[in-house]
Order: sequence, then C-alpha cells, then structure tokens
Amino acid sequence: MDIEKKYNTGVVWQDFQHRQLMDLFFKVKEAKAKKTGDDVFKYSLAFLAMYVNHHFKLEEEYMEIYYFPDTDLHKKEHKDLIKKIKSFRKNYAEHDEQSINKLLITLNDWILNHILENDKKLGEYIISCEQKAK
Ligand SMILES: [Fe+2]
Ligand SMILES: [Fe+2]
Repeated sequence: MDIEKKYNTGVVWQDFQHRQLMDLFFKVKEAKAKKTGDDVFKYSLAFLAMYVNHHFKLEEEYMEIYYFPDTDLHKKEHKDLIKKIKSFRKNYAEHDEQSINKLLITLNDWILNHILENDKKLGEYIISCEQKAK
C-alpha cells in the first residue's frame, strides 16, 4: 500500500524505514480484518524488536553528527517505544483481539505523533545540514 506523501521527511533512508513500519501497520490491520492474526502478530513483535533498535540507532547517530537541538526529547520518545514493545512481548505472547487492537493503536499513535511530528523535524534538520555542507 502506498503511503501519503505527508509522512515523507525527504531523507531517503528515513522514509524507506518509516514505510517499512507503515507496511507492518497495514499488514496487522489486514490480518485483523481477515482474522488471520496469529502468525502476523508474532511476526510483528519480532520485526518491531529488530526494527526499533536499528532505526532508532540510525536516527540518533544523525542527531549526534549534526547536533540536533531536540535530541533529548526525541531519544526519550524512542526509549519509551522500546519499553512499550518489550512489555508487549512479555504481556502478549499469544495473540487475541485485545492484543492486536493494542498493537494497532500503538503503531497508529507512533505514526501520527512521532513520525509526523518529531521525525519530520529531524528530517528537515538533516536536509538543511546536508545542504549547508555542500
Ligand atoms: Fe524518531
Ligand atoms: Fe523514525
């Protein structure tokens, strides 16, 4: 599924990785509708555990390279999601209607509040730093 342009930060690797997360969101949504959630749920938690570490590390590296002013707040939000996903893996080992709904809400909130707000700010900042460096 194609995502709207409004989510794009303009930074290629960031947009690519954000799209992976949104693809996961749609996959979970579809599985919920088709009631084929069990495999998808397990896959999603495994994917997320890997994804957040890798994606956040990369964003945080760029924050440090370019002295991003909102680094502390941004890192805190990353930490909070990592914690949330860890507790998800602990508390919802098996999938049911409630756990799949919670996962969808968590991802939806993250996309709307973190990606659309803070990641966009970071993306704009990275682009402006890279333009200055040219
Ligand atoms: Fe971020
Ligand atoms: Fe991000």
